[in-house]
Amino acid sequence: MRVAPRPRARGAVAALAAASALVATSLATEVTDTAVSRAVQVGPAPAAAPVVPAAQVPAPLADLDAPDPLRSDSGAAITSVREWEQTRRPELLEAFQEHIYGTSLPAPSSMTVDESGGNGSARRVTITVAGPEGEASFTLRLFVPDSGTPKGTFLLIDHRGSVGDDPGSGGYAPVSAITGAGYALAALDASEVAPDDASSYRDGVIDAFYPAGQDLPADAGRTISAWAWGASRAMDYLQTDAALEMGIDPGAVAVIGHSRGGKAALWAGAQDPRFPVVISNNSGSTGAKLARRDGSGESIAAINNQFPHWFPETYKDYAGDADALPVDQHALLALIAPGRVVVGSATDDGTADPHGEFLSYLGAAPVYELYGLGDTGLSSSNWPPATGKGYRGPGMSYHLRSGGHGLEDADWDIYLGSDLFLR
Ligand code: GCU
Repeated sequence: MRVAPRPRARGAVAALAAASALVATSLATEVTDTAVSRAVQVGPAPAAAPVVPAAQVPAPLADLDAPDPLRSDSGAAITSVREWEQTRRPELLEAFQEHIYGTSLPAPSSMTVDESGGNGSARRVTITVAGPEGEASFTLRLFVPDSGTPKGTFLLIDHRGSVGDDPGSGGYAPVSAITGAGYALAALDASEVAPDDASSYRDGVIDAFYPAGQDLPADAGRTISAWAWGASRAMDYLQTDAALEMGIDPGAVAVIGHSRGGKAALWAGAQDPRFPVVISNNSGSTGAKLARRDGSGESIAAINNQFPHWFPETYKDYAGDADALPVDQHALLALIAPGRVVVGSATDDGTADPHGEFLSYLGAAPVYELYGLGDTGLSSSNWPPATGKGYRGPGMSYHLRSGGHGLEDADWDIYLGSDLFLR
């Protein structure tokens, strides 16, 4: 089946087009010039929850002197959704591309899908994309509840290759718990999109767009960027009639990733407003963790030394010099607004710097506040909050699990139990 562009429901892509080639060219993005379109269902109003005043940036974050998401490069204060979407959001997207994640691949010249794998409530889809230098294929596995319409779909950037054709149970990708809770799971085989290996990472989608014998441009995205791009191609598929026939609602898709997959999920959600929910589980450095806490957890130097294929050369200039970055990671979370940003951390996950993830979460709230969604759900901005409790505002969710690094049943219990697709 050839995936054809879907007509846009409301006019042309405007405000974000210049800032994000990926958003502008993606097959079915719907953006108006006054609102970033993210379909979030409206549910019962949350109980009058205690609010961390959104305009009040917590002292530890203020002390880091991180760039203010609500001040444009010209120095002007951003005070409305319109100014945010027309001026600041495009500036930030460009800065994250230029300095951290690299330029994204363009939209493929064609995308075809082979849906012959699997049957009934489990389907294996092979997505083939074409670029100027060739083609690449990767697998998306879809599991839907045996009966009833799914309440929403979790699109997992499965960097571990954990999800096979048979539903597994427990831990990182508990297929039966997800479908049992009434949701669908779409698992993207990330290593097929771009192998997680310094010597072969271009072998998936990247070399369909760049000549294999030549070095990539210094500012071109690498593995994490390719995975984020792959999530958007999976979303293209989830918008097709075939996915619809399985009960998938393309307006209720949460992109989720753990750790390195969480970095990619955040970057996908920041660029592609079709995701109404974006979940970062223990994403740490160059994910939810504030970069300016470079001495806590994994530093910019360490991540680039150990994983030279994840980010562009341009990011490596900031090793030991996080303060020179024109952005920080709370602004990445803010780019998801008005979609729901979900941050899951773990107490003993020192490499990911859970305190730095918490501060980023709080630091994104002033942008959510522009949309009237600034309630973080937390009762205090003091670290640490109570463990094992899902905090939930109308557009932001947070939890701190006790224990170490992992996407565990306890995390899924919170994601599955907290009506993420409702306000
Ligand atoms: C390493 C890496 C982290 C990453 C993690 C993971 O620990 O340093 O940045 O998040 O792997 O993906 O599990």
